[in-house]
Amino acid sequence: MCGIIGIVTGKPVATGLISSLKLLEYRGYDSAGIATLQNGTVWRERAAGKLSNLEKKIRVNGLGDGGIGIGHTRWATHGAPNETNAHPHIIGDVVIVHNGIIENYQELRGELLKNGAKISSDTDTEVIGHLIQNQLKINDNVETAIQAAIGMLRGAFALAIMIKGNEELLIGARKGCPLAVGIGDVEGHYIGSDALALSPFSRQIVYLEEGDFVFATKNTFKVYNESGELVEREINIIEQQSAVMDKGNHKHYMAKEFFEQPDVISHTLANYIDMDTNQINIDSKLDITKFNRIIMVSCGTAYYAAMVGKYWLEKTTHMSVEVDVASEFRYRNPPLNEKCLFIVVSQSGETADSLAALRLAKEKGCTTVAVVNVPTSTMSREADFILPTSAGTEVCVASTKAFICQITVLAALSIGFGKSLNILSADDASKMTMDLASLPRLINDSFSVEKEIIKLAHNIAKVEHVLFLGRHTSFPIAMEGALKLKEITYIHAEGYAAGELKHGPIALIDEKMPLIIIAPDNDTYEKTRSNIEEIAARGGDIMVFTTQKRAEEIRALGLKAIALPDSSDFLSPFVYTIPVQLLAYHTAVHMGTDVDQPRNLAKSVTVE
Ligand code: M6R
Repeated sequence: MCGIIGIVTGKPVATGLISSLKLLEYRGYDSAGIATLQNGTVWRERAAGKLSNLEKKIRVNGLGDGGIGIGHTRWATHGAPNETNAHPHIIGDVVIVHNGIIENYQELRGELLKNGAKISSDTDTEVIGHLIQNQLKINDNVETAIQAAIGMLRGAFALAIMIKGNEELLIGARKGCPLAVGIGDVEGHYIGSDALALSPFSRQIVYLEEGDFVFATKNTFKVYNESGELVEREINIIEQQSAVMDKGNHKHYMAKEFFEQPDVISHTLANYIDMDTNQINIDSKLDITKFNRIIMVSCGTAYYAAMVGKYWLEKTTHMSVEVDVASEFRYRNPPLNEKCLFIVVSQSGETADSLAALRLAKEKGCTTVAVVNVPTSTMSREADFILPTSAGTEVCVASTKAFICQITVLAALSIGFGKSLNILSADDASKMTMDLASLPRLINDSFSVEKEIIKLAHNIAKVEHVLFLGRHTSFPIAMEGALKLKEITYIHAEGYAAGELKHGPIALIDEKMPLIIIAPDNDTYEKTRSNIEEIAARGGDIMVFTTQKRAEEIRALGLKAIALPDSSDFLSPFVYTIPVQLLAYHTAVHMGTDVDQPRNLAKSVTVE
């Protein structure tokens, strides 16, 4: 999940490398580094921590005027996140950056050490550099040497490489991790982890395929496949990236992004609702009547979105809907066949486990659908059907607007499928569609609780543990609330199904244990209300998120409640997402943690 950029233009590349790394920092921010080549000399700067640390060093030391260079933002896999382990690594003539994990690295490292190699970092990347350097000694041809060295690797990788003495040549290779080639709008060639990284320079993008190598100069580029054959890969024209990488008048990207939710829901709905007829529009080739089972797979926040989708899809399709985290799904040998509709949900479209699950489902004959935010991502390219979430670029590591757009798509899909299967009448489908169309306004109204949430956040900032409870679609929202809070405040939080409380977690309850209870006024409200009373009887510190009417009842019991706008049961997971996002955000702001780039995390998890 590191970010890679390489540039060969023959003109000074250092500034371009930094601009691109800024766009790649979402992939990791443990350390960053850049190297350029100029007249046989490597100029390299590396710094632990965020890119801003590297920029400071470059301002002082410079990076030369080299016309070729590579850069890297790191999310540590092998070795601590310090400067020694930061990329680029220099091994003899080889300068290299890497994303991924080399599985046979211990074996290769042992062999190299036995043969006298001096290895100075703890990374698997340095081992690759040594293998290339050794091959360069026995092969005059650089292309052959690179292919031979990379042929020894097992695992997942994307690489960018420069060779001292070959200042014209930028080399890339990929297997298991994405890598794209950009043809410069003005001049030169570029390689990068994604189209976003290449967006300042290039609209024409070639996505390398599994096992591909690229050898690029200022004027040409050649792609070889895994068998060493010269191949042509399609050139994709990418629209101007809508990545407006600024915070507007917000202090953090997270705030900017969750306040964008009414807008991005509108954009997403525009893909699925015909506003003139109130009909849901789903690609007619995605024919639900051909399937007898739906499987949804994803990770983290996207997994909770899929869990919300399960409640809706089971109701409108009467099919068995299974939801699993991708890292479990892919290793449990799930029974799959062509009667299964497989849906992967992902913001980035690059998450390694989700992508592997998608590939497994395809291999086993399932029809595959990707609910995905990045249209140029690997999942967007590989799934049979794409259901876009039009959330725009999400910069904050903690996902907010992408989540709400994911559930928007799943809500539209549930209506569309229910109608195709005649489980929803035309009238019911149209009413649900109108309800869905009212979402942007409803979400806007839900922000009215912000002041009360700020007060609550100041209390939550003082505690060490928080429990979130909910039933039905509020259960995944409780888990999402807990994930958001732990992600950006480092407070331990768990989400539970309210009915599960007395099966164990109730033992945790005392006056020091805050409980956030998500209780919209729906069919399960009375059951949740009983749970609230059970907790109150044991002295738990309760805060209930509910409707105005129910909030008054709760307050009459001497308990605390925050009132959210009334909505249909169908739309309640959208409404109740807002206070849990606000709570995590304001708690983090009060505590002074790094809201947009929390410790140890990365936006896109492209390693298993
Ligand atoms: O890009 P994806 O949606 O596939 O990412 C999945 C998770 O890594 C992601 O949702 C993660 O849990 C977020 N940091 C949550 O805020």
